[in-house]
Amino acid sequence: MGSRGSNSTGPRRRKRRAGKKAWERPLPAIDRPALALPEDPDFIFRFAVYGDNQRGVPIHRRIAKNILIAGAEVVLHVGDYVQDGKKSEQWDEQFRRPARRLLERTLFLGVQGNHDKESPRYYEILRPPGGKSRFKAVREPVAFFGLDSNRRLSQQAEWLGKELENTGEPWKVVFFHEAPYASSWPWPGGSLKTRQHFLPVLEEHRVDLVLAGHIHNYERFHKDGIPYIITGGGGDTLAKPEQLRNPFLLWAAKKHNFITADVYPGRIEVLARDLSGVPFDGIIVEKSGPREIELETQRRYTGPRPKSFPTHLGKR
Ligand SMILES: [Fe+2]
Repeated sequence: MGSRGSNSTGPRRRKRRAGKKAWERPLPAIDRPALALPEDPDFIFRFAVYGDNQRGVPIHRRIAKNILIAGAEVVLHVGDYVQDGKKSEQWDEQFRRPARRLLERTLFLGVQGNHDKESPRYYEILRPPGGKSRFKAVREPVAFFGLDSNRRLSQQAEWLGKELENTGEPWKVVFFHEAPYASSWPWPGGSLKTRQHFLPVLEEHRVDLVLAGHIHNYERFHKDGIPYIITGGGGDTLAKPEQLRNPFLLWAAKKHNFITADVYPGRIEVLARDLSGVPFDGIIVEKSGPREIELETQRRYTGPRPKSFPTHLGKR
């Protein structure tokens, strides 16, 4: 009996702990100074971005808390609020309750992911502008365009083109669930449908920043002067980056994360943050294009790479 008891607290117990889901493990302490709003007198407002929280409720709660501490005025959600959009109770357990304060205190704008399944609860809880899953919302000087990457992509591309033509706001931020390129999945390295339908419009109108999710990690790539950020680390199980070919990939990290973006008259400073709120990657978006911020806390992804992986990544 005694020896059986001592065995169960040894290697077997360690094994159980290692096998825990990410959201069952203890969370790191919050670094409040790292989340403070900038003191620059030109600063206008901060927006935050996250997505794919799904089953990771404690992590989702932490991200929501960090975003509130960070003083974000606008929150963008890139989709996948729940694991199964058809199950009504999941909308309360996995999204509405953990995000309650954000929904109450910020302009919360969310697009649909593939797990959300056109649920009436998406429309009820998120209340997208105009009651549609593609929309425009403005917080001067930024125009935010949300798109639905699950359905009617060509119609939305047409709508987006017209909107971008007639938009007077100097900054144009577009967000949708499935990025046109990604190094994790789906094969062959990103969504072919958003690549076909959305990408030409984004490039023709030279939008300033594109945000997506779907991939449960962090990725950043730039294409034709436009920065794309995948922030799908809002709670659910993480995915290993750098598994498929994203020829434009600049930076990837397997970690839960959220984004803050600080808007100034001539620039938007974008930081990717871990669960403590500490930035691990960043860019400054300017009209001339994006440039990287060198961060003390920056760490490169050093995980395994498939043999066929493009060699330019080795330089980073
Ligand atoms: Fe997804």
